[in-house]
Amino acid sequence: MSGRRPRASRRGAPLQVPVTAGPEPSPLYTQVYREIREHILSGVLRPGARLPSARTLAADLGVSRNTIEAAFLQLGAEGFITRRVGAGTTVASSMGESAPFRARPRRAGTPRAEAPRSAALRLSARGTLITECGLAEIAGDHPAGPCATEVAGFPVRTWNRLLARRARRAGIAPFQAADPAGLPALREAIADHVRVTRGVRCEWRQVIVVTSTQQALDLCGRLLLDPGAVALMEDPGYRGTRAALLAAGAEVRGVPVDGDGVDPEALAAHPGARLLYVTPSHQYPLGVTLTLARRLALLRWAAATGAWILEDDYDSEFRYDGRPLASLQGLDPEGRVIYLGTCNKVLFPGLRLGYVIVPPGLVAPFTAARRISDGFSPPLVQAVLADFISGGHFAAWLRQARQHYAACRDALVASITTQWGPAVTLGPSDTGLHLMAHLPDGAPDAAIAEAATAQCLGVLPLTRYLAAPSRRRGLLLSYVAGTPARIPADVAALAPAVRGRRGR
Ligand SMILES: Cc1ncc(COP(=O)(O)O)c(C=O)c1O
Repeated sequence: MSGRRPRASRRGAPLQVPVTAGPEPSPLYTQVYREIREHILSGVLRPGARLPSARTLAADLGVSRNTIEAAFLQLGAEGFITRRVGAGTTVASSMGESAPFRARPRRAGTPRAEAPRSAALRLSARGTLITECGLAEIAGDHPAGPCATEVAGFPVRTWNRLLARRARRAGIAPFQAADPAGLPALREAIADHVRVTRGVRCEWRQVIVVTSTQQALDLCGRLLLDPGAVALMEDPGYRGTRAALLAAGAEVRGVPVDGDGVDPEALAAHPGARLLYVTPSHQYPLGVTLTLARRLALLRWAAATGAWILEDDYDSEFRYDGRPLASLQGLDPEGRVIYLGTCNKVLFPGLRLGYVIVPPGLVAPFTAARRISDGFSPPLVQAVLADFISGGHFAAWLRQARQHYAACRDALVASITTQWGPAVTLGPSDTGLHLMAHLPDGAPDAAIAEAATAQCLGVLPLTRYLAAPSRRRGLLLSYVAGTPARIPADVAALAPAVRGRRGR
């Protein structure tokens, strides 16, 4: 149904009431109500303007008088119109002369679009940085990209049992506000875990629970960087970090990474840098490990310059061969290293729990920042995670997951070695859920990744992670969704693209 009848208001402005039926039309009286309201808000109907009588409008629009009466009732209740016996129905004078929204009225049948109001949409300088830092794209990351995790084998029943037990026994506590720094039981469990497995030196109060490494990076950027401060990160490097540092207003510069990790000699080119982000245990995305000599050089640099080092230890739980090097934080006598860990990768991405381990002097600032950021993490989930860790389930899951991923890694390495030919060289694969297959310089890695139709392998191009112009090319292969049985077929499916496109 549609109708459009001009009427003259008291000041001569035309009153048009288009009524349209959409695919799922709302009640007729709501449509009439919305149309009149829009005309009032946009200033087409000014305060004091007289509306047609309910009877006339009903006849004009071909609807019942009850429909118009219901619309008028609603408009009157909300203060848009006044109805007085003898004076008819008029736009309320309390609406004031300046209409809040000076949008032009729609023509009948045109969709109700959100008209851009540039003044209202003007963002702060920080808002613009946040919008332009590329995080929106990261949120919709590749299904098998860096943040993906295979959850199929996770002991869901155990988790749910712990959840039910906590919910039964905890009474009202999980429904109340909690410490922004996290539940003491979880902070203690995390501290015990990283002390034993990663050689982190901390006491539990230094552990601040966050939703994710991404939130930890955001808090670090806001607490430690002034606008325009120089922040350094590995190149190639993790895009989530780049986005968070840019959003904090920092000038982000890349420091080259080679087979031994990030190059400390390159730091001299950035005097005054306030912060360096590194992934020493398993460089993202190249997979190399930062050598001990370079770790010590980074710590000397931080001590000498007063810069912070952010150590992102995002996946070292998945270590397949040999023992990992202990954390950089554990080697630091000066308290310049901030250690970031996440449970979203090692457990499941829907968990939204991670942690940042800070020097004692930063506990209060981080707690305050977490408080004003989003308060705190849900206490019930924190308590369940604490039970999961202290009950030995975390360690058991790790053993099982490691076995599965090691078999995937073996299948991937063997298949690539036999099927992709000598032009491809593999990066380290002793840790993590992905590995880098290096292609000849200048090879079209983005096009190959784009064309990849592999079912269980995630394929992303190295160029995506490069900050400075470079001819380095490669494919980041994630095997989180893989199975040892399916991987060889996926590698075979990718072989023609890889072999057919040489570097230039
Ligand atoms: C280098 C690196 N850091 C951190 C993370 C993710 O952490 P979160 O999901 O807790 O933000 C990822 C993705 O899994 C990653 O690749």
